[in-house]
Amino acid sequence: MLYRLARTGFFQLDPEKAHELAIQNFKRFHGTPFDLFYRQNLPVRQVECMGITFKNPVGLAAGLDKNGECIDAFGSMGFGHIEVGTVTPRPQPGNDKPRLFRLVEAEGLINRMGFNNDGVDALVENVKKATYDGVIGINIGKNKDTPIEKGSEDYLICMEKTYDHAGYIAVNISSPNTPGLRTLQYGDALDQLLSDLKSKQVELQKKYDKYVPLALKIAPDLSDEELVQICDSLVRHNVDGVIATNTTLDRSMVKGMKHAEEAGGLSGRPVQLRSTEVIRRVHQELGDKLPIIGVGGIDSYIAAKEKMLAGAQLVQVYSGFIYHGPGLIRDIVRNL
Ligand SMILES: Cc1cc2nc3c(=O)[nH]c(=O)nc-3n(C[C@H](O)[C@H](O)[C@H](O)COP(=O)(O)O)c2cc1C
Repeated sequence: MLYRLARTGFFQLDPEKAHELAIQNFKRFHGTPFDLFYRQNLPVRQVECMGITFKNPVGLAAGLDKNGECIDAFGSMGFGHIEVGTVTPRPQPGNDKPRLFRLVEAEGLINRMGFNNDGVDALVENVKKATYDGVIGINIGKNKDTPIEKGSEDYLICMEKTYDHAGYIAVNISSPNTPGLRTLQYGDALDQLLSDLKSKQVELQKKYDKYVPLALKIAPDLSDEELVQICDSLVRHNVDGVIATNTTLDRSMVKGMKHAEEAGGLSGRPVQLRSTEVIRRVHQELGDKLPIIGVGGIDSYIAAKEKMLAGAQLVQVYSGFIYHGPGLIRDIVRNL
């Protein structure tokens, strides 16, 4: 009820302005009596995944708290994990505005943010300050002006700087908004990247005397054959988990709607079925060899349950959270 009121106000604003205002308010009000409006005490529903204990299976997907500025505020809403980022080695402004659009009738969003973020050093400082007792995942990417052939260097820099502060590291090669990024999902480029990342993980495990799992985040726009190849690479390289899925380029579910033709990645309810299909297919290939974190269009307990029945051990929300607020986390955690 309260969230519906707040949403009415926020939805009067330009989507990115609303997002900035929400982040500012979380920063300002967290730890004051006003955080009563979003604080929730949820039952514990422990899940073991990638060798880590999560207090419940519901996480915040990457991209909402790109710089890790509001970890404690999101934590107080009851998330079992929070994935911050995508972060790049150097700060970058992202694409020109406007770059975020609401497709209200479909409960969808289209974004072409382009990894706007304050850089990995700033993110690490924020993560160090957080007192959240859940799992913090750090999602890493490459700077726009780093040539794609040198992309793995950016991931290694981010890995090196975040390793000691992350519960797990998510490797984002599936955003449609950084030119060429998705080519890292295929063939030799993927094998080389995974091999580099795994060697770095061995080195950092020795240095810090702890094992931080690596999860690969994939796109929903992959053919069956491509999914099979990716699964094969994940197993060969001993990657710890897979996050399925990122946003889609497909517009068939939103044809004719306002903003449907904007460039960028589509998320929310229109990607729900495809993302579940990808999870099911990946699970068929991987069995229990690798856990799946399911994300894409989760807007209710039932949608979360569908992801889990398809093979996901954990779920994440972004667009559904924008449309339904913290009550969505409660709905899922209480009913699972
Ligand atoms: C505005 C916006 C920004 C996003 N930024 C990122 C990002 O930086 N890194 C990433 O891995 N995914 C990013 N995503 C994708 C989400 O994490 C998620 O995978 C996708 O939106 C599907 O989930 P949803 O339907 O619950 O939104 C972004 C999504 C949106 C809507």
